[in-house]
Amino acid sequence: MEGTPQNIFDRLNAARTLMAEVDELPTVPAVVLRIAGKLDDPDVSIDEITDLLLQDQVLTTRVLRLVNSSFYCPLKHLDELREAIIYLGLDHLKEAVFTCAVVDLFKTGKEGFSRSLLWTHALGVAKVAKIIAERLGYPETFNVYLAGLLHDVGAVFLNFFRGKDFLSSLGCRWHLQDGITDAILYHHNLDAVPPERAAGVALVSLADWFCTRRKLGYEEIDDSGNIREGWEAHRAWEVLRARVAAPCEPGPHLDELNGIIAGLRAAILEGLYMV
Ligand SMILES: [Fe+2]
Ligand SMILES: [Fe+2]
Repeated sequence: MEGTPQNIFDRLNAARTLMAEVDELPTVPAVVLRIAGKLDDPDVSIDEITDLLLQDQVLTTRVLRLVNSSFYCPLKHLDELREAIIYLGLDHLKEAVFTCAVVDLFKTGKEGFSRSLLWTHALGVAKVAKIIAERLGYPETFNVYLAGLLHDVGAVFLNFFRGKDFLSSLGCRWHLQDGITDAILYHHNLDAVPPERAAGVALVSLADWFCTRRKLGYEEIDDSGNIREGWEAHRAWEVLRARVAAPCEPGPHLDELNGIIAGLRAAILEGLYMV
C-alpha cells in the first residue's frame, strides 16, 4: 500500500540497490569529455587534440584500430595518431572517440548474451541512423550517431535496468543529452516521445529496423515480408515528414543503404569486435 512503512522501506531498499548498481557503471573517460569540449572550439589545432588523446593510451590504440578498419577505409595503414586524426578529420573524430569509449559499457553487465553481436548491431544502427540523418539534412548528426550506438544499452544491464532511474543515472555519468536517453527509452515506441523530440528517435528506430532486417542484429526475427514495403510503411517516416524540412522519400534511401550495409558488415567482421 502506498506510503505504508513497509512500502517506504521497500522503496528505500530499491533506491540503495540502484545506487550500488549504478556505481558499477563505467564512466565516460575525462579525456573524452575534454576532447569533445575542444572539438566545439573552431580554432582548436590538430596538435592540441593529438596531445590530449595521447594521454589515454587505451583510447589511442582503439582509435588507431578503428581508423585503420574499413569502417573508415584509409588507403594505407596509419601508425601515427596525428596522421590518423588528419585522415579522419576533426568532424569524425568526436564520433570515433566516443565509439572507442562507449565500448566499455558493453563489456559490463549481465552474462549470457552475445556482446559482440550487440556491439555489431550498435555500430550498424549508429552508422545507418547518421547516414539517413545526413541525407535528410537533420542537423545533429553526432547525437544521432551516439543515440544509435547506445539505443540498446539497456540489454546489457538487464540486472541493473530500472527504466528511467537507471537511464537518468547513465545519462549523468555519460553527460548524455535528453535526445539520447529518449532514443534508448522509446525506439520501439515512437508514439510515446514528445513530438518536438521525436525526429531523432525516429531516425534511430528506422536504422534499428533496417539493420535488424539486414541481419545486422542480435535478435532472431521472423521476417518473411517484402523489406521495401516494411521500410516504406515504417511509422518513423511519418514522424520525419512532420519534423524534417528535406523531402522524406523512403525509396532512394533504401537503395543507397542496401549498398552501404555490405561494406559495413565487412568492416565490422574485419576487426571491430572490441568487446
Ligand atoms: Fe531495441
Ligand atoms: Fe536495436
